[in-house]
Amino acid sequence: MTGWLFRRVVAQTEKFFQSAHQWFDFSLEPSGKLVSFYWYFPGILLERDLSVTVVDPPLVKHHLTQLRSIDTPAADFRRLVGTLSTLLACEATKNLLLEEQSVQTPLCDTLGWRLKQRIGLVPILRAGLGMLESVQNLIPDAEVRHLGFYRDEETALPVEYYNKLSTSDACDAALILDPMLATGGSASLAFETLTQWGVHDIRLLSLVSSPEGIAKLQTKHPTMDIFVCTIDDKLNDRHYIVPGLGDAGDRIFGT
Ligand code: PRP
Ligand code: URA
Repeated sequence: MTGWLFRRVVAQTEKFFQSAHQWFDFSLEPSGKLVSFYWYFPGILLERDLSVTVVDPPLVKHHLTQLRSIDTPAADFRRLVGTLSTLLACEATKNLLLEEQSVQTPLCDTLGWRLKQRIGLVPILRAGLGMLESVQNLIPDAEVRHLGFYRDEETALPVEYYNKLSTSDACDAALILDPMLATGGSASLAFETLTQWGVHDIRLLSLVSSPEGIAKLQTKHPTMDIFVCTIDDKLNDRHYIVPGLGDAGDRIFGT
């Protein structure tokens, strides 16, 4: 009886593992980093792309709605871009490395912390400038490395017109700042430019994104960590995000 029970348990366990791939799957980068997983049980499907984080607590939802509105004037639009960038940057920098630092308070010496890595902020001109001040307020010692791209109106492909990456050593971690991730062309070019410079830890901070742009980046650059406030419905035939907020650069600079 015990032997039968044992064989049955072994058989059931084997069956479980043989069919487990139907319920559980994951993908790894060549480096071994977990990129995505899904877990399925009848009625419950958990699926998550680990390279994309949608940062959408109530405050983000509230401010993003005002940002989208056609009635929001440029001054308010700029303020809202700043507020949302702060909320997004807090999440995107959660795992930055620290080192201990002693500090003297008015009462005693104590141990505290300071950021350990050289951080680069990479605003993509023009619209990325709208996010810069608030992220710079959070990381005042960060280097600012501007990249200037515009989208060709016919092809929607990015055209580089400015590059402020120097020949000096690359920074340890780079935060690409661009409020819009549409086709993904600009973010992809920024990633390639930063990789060529020698940066390994590259994070994209975008307020509004499209499923097409996210899919492109995940396919081409699976090591990029992407932080967005929303993934909207789609791109229209002019490669604008729908529902989106229109042209971010024009709305920030009143053009
Ligand atoms: C916008 C936006 C991004 C790009 C996103 O810039 O700020 O850089 O489009 O689109 P993509 O994902 O399809 O590349 P734009 O070319 O309008 O220039 P601007 O910021 O100077 O207005
Ligand atoms: N750039 C923008 O500013 N808005 C879009 O919807 C797409 C690209």
